[in-house]
Amino acid sequence: MKNFQNCNIIFEKQFGQKARSVFFAPGRINLIGEHTDYNGGRVFPCALTFGTYALARKNDSKRIRLYSMNFPENGIVEFTLADLDYNTIHDWANYPKGMIRYIIETGCQIDAGIDILFYGEIPNGAGLSSSASIEMVMGVLLKGLFDLNLDPIDLVKIGKKVENQFMGVNSGIMDQFVIGLGKANYGILLDCQTLKYSYAPIKLDNYDIIIMNTNKRRELADSKYNERRSECEAALVRLQTQVAIKSLGELDENTFDKYKRVIANEIWIKRAKHAVLENARTIKAAEALARGDLIKFGQLVNESHISLRDDYQVTGKELDTLVEAAWRQPGVIGARMTGAGFGGCAIGFVEKAQRERFILQVGEFYNNTIGYEASFYIANIGDGAKEITKDVM
Ligand code: GLA
Repeated sequence: MKNFQNCNIIFEKQFGQKARSVFFAPGRINLIGEHTDYNGGRVFPCALTFGTYALARKNDSKRIRLYSMNFPENGIVEFTLADLDYNTIHDWANYPKGMIRYIIETGCQIDAGIDILFYGEIPNGAGLSSSASIEMVMGVLLKGLFDLNLDPIDLVKIGKKVENQFMGVNSGIMDQFVIGLGKANYGILLDCQTLKYSYAPIKLDNYDIIIMNTNKRRELADSKYNERRSECEAALVRLQTQVAIKSLGELDENTFDKYKRVIANEIWIKRAKHAVLENARTIKAAEALARGDLIKFGQLVNESHISLRDDYQVTGKELDTLVEAAWRQPGVIGARMTGAGFGGCAIGFVEKAQRERFILQVGEFYNNTIGYEASFYIANIGDGAKEITKDVM
């Protein structure tokens, strides 16, 4: 974390007293299993070591006062516990506000005001889930300060509800789930239909995961995310006239091939094909990783990108430029976009010895092709949302 004492000095300057507790929630990458969560399929994400910090202290005023070191120009956003409606001018603060509102709606008692300072390390709109990170840090903060009887999965579901109903983005459960339940050095293989999950050790030998940021901002709400979701739902409705399924995630490739004509819309067929095959790839990729077959894992990662590019059509020039440049570099076993797409980030599995060269070559090619720079970070796999007061104070 950025120097914690400095953050607390800023806290004191804003709120008049020092914070007493500190909470953290990570960002995330998804290794494979993209646009499968809301289709009832598998995802295979992991939590990162960087994320969102929140310093907090209860106050006596029954007012919620929020300050973000990332948006100092917005100053303190303030509201009362009696007014928890979405408010456009509250901007980023609607995420924590939504969490308070929906947690109270579960019957939990939040009977005091709170002062909170946020410090986020996740680049905004980069597709590394800065929004789910702020939701989940707020979840563990409220649970910690008010000793709430909510388990991590309750907080995950509340976070998703904030995203869907408070913010109006029809996203699936992957981001909140991995940010809530992630574990250092493990990925989570999650079945989004049943919420059954298992932790899978991420052993990549002498390979790093390098995050490549297109620096093209991705706004879920105004992207085509919701449109893709509706296209899949439309395909599902038509398939349901032939097969008894609740989601596309229940279909195997052969059954899909047998019945796909009933969808009768070429675009919807492509979208559904991605959802079905990506789900199968995710299972195979997790198996390949478990048996240490990194080459097979990398091939599946590449196939995932191709499917997202050609069938789901959510990549775009920036992501394709990065990923295709990554494929051409020595020591790369696989690369693909990660997250929703339409800009944001890609990931590459790169031999450690080639790391510098990779960043240089891909970076140069991207800059020459797109006209501005990409950013690169090494991904380390960290823990899910938690209180860290004892570690830093
Ligand atoms: C975003 C959403 C997730 C998931 C991914 C695509 O990150 O928040 O729920 O749908 O896109 O896999």
